[in-house]
Amino acid sequence: MRRYFSILAGFLILALAMVIALMLSGKVAQWGGDVMPGWAIASLAGLIGMLAGWAILPAWWRGVLLAAPLMIWGGLQLHPGWFLAAAVVLILLQYNAVRHRVPLYRSGRAVIGALARRIEAGDVIRFADIGCGDGHVLAALARRFPERRFTGFETAPLLYLIARWRCRHLENCRIHFRDFWNTSWRDFDAVYAFLSPEPMLRVWRKLQRELPTSGKLYSLSFEVPGMEPDALFGAGQFDLLCYGKLNRELTAAEKSAD
Ligand SMILES: C[S@@+](CC[C@H](N)C(=O)[O-])C[C@H]1O[C@@H](n2cnc3c(N)ncnc32)[C@H](O)[C@@H]1O
Repeated sequence: MRRYFSILAGFLILALAMVIALMLSGKVAQWGGDVMPGWAIASLAGLIGMLAGWAILPAWWRGVLLAAPLMIWGGLQLHPGWFLAAAVVLILLQYNAVRHRVPLYRSGRAVIGALARRIEAGDVIRFADIGCGDGHVLAALARRFPERRFTGFETAPLLYLIARWRCRHLENCRIHFRDFWNTSWRDFDAVYAFLSPEPMLRVWRKLQRELPTSGKLYSLSFEVPGMEPDALFGAGQFDLLCYGKLNRELTAAEKSAD
């Protein structure tokens, strides 16, 4: 509640500071002074806002209140086309944050190291990164294991293009512009997922239906709700969780598909 109060108070002070600075600049012009340039009015608003919030808001607000009017003024100087371009780039990059509630964030080097150790230890020949982002995980692994096959699925257009370009010389690495939910995982020994908590149960169900009996799911950081992982591996600041298939009797149809 206190947090909401400070956010509300911060925006109120910002708005008031801008109104006061505009009124003061009007008075200066009325009294025969020069018309104040926009950047000076914005700086004045920043100063007023910072001083007004000094005692009542958390300290980090001071910088925000000082800089915000100048940034708003700077934004107004830009051609609206720049905002449109920025929005388009954002959509092309973060398309799946809206569609599947999985935004882009990248696995670090420690994760690639941990996956490489799993691939070496676990006899993985066909590895898939579901939601491969810009393809840097796959590119690093494909370079390290030229005799194994790597596949990535990505539907954020810009990320897909970057991943394709990154892996263009790697014969053992394929990137597909395809929704991984609409793709069979039957051909993979290991599936790597760095997604969000939201789809994990669905990922696990697909794993149970489609991966070969010895297949493994490696999920960075996000657990399958209600399921104990088979193993945990350190991967920098995160854990790499490993899930296998449940031991269950297969139906005749499943046996023939496996
Ligand atoms: C958190 S990022 C991980 C990127 C990369 N795997 C890594 O570890 O650096 C998740 C990626 O999954 C992609 N994604 C989410 N849902 C998807 C779907 N249904 N099909 C294909 N890609 C998807 C997003 O666009 C995003 O690039």
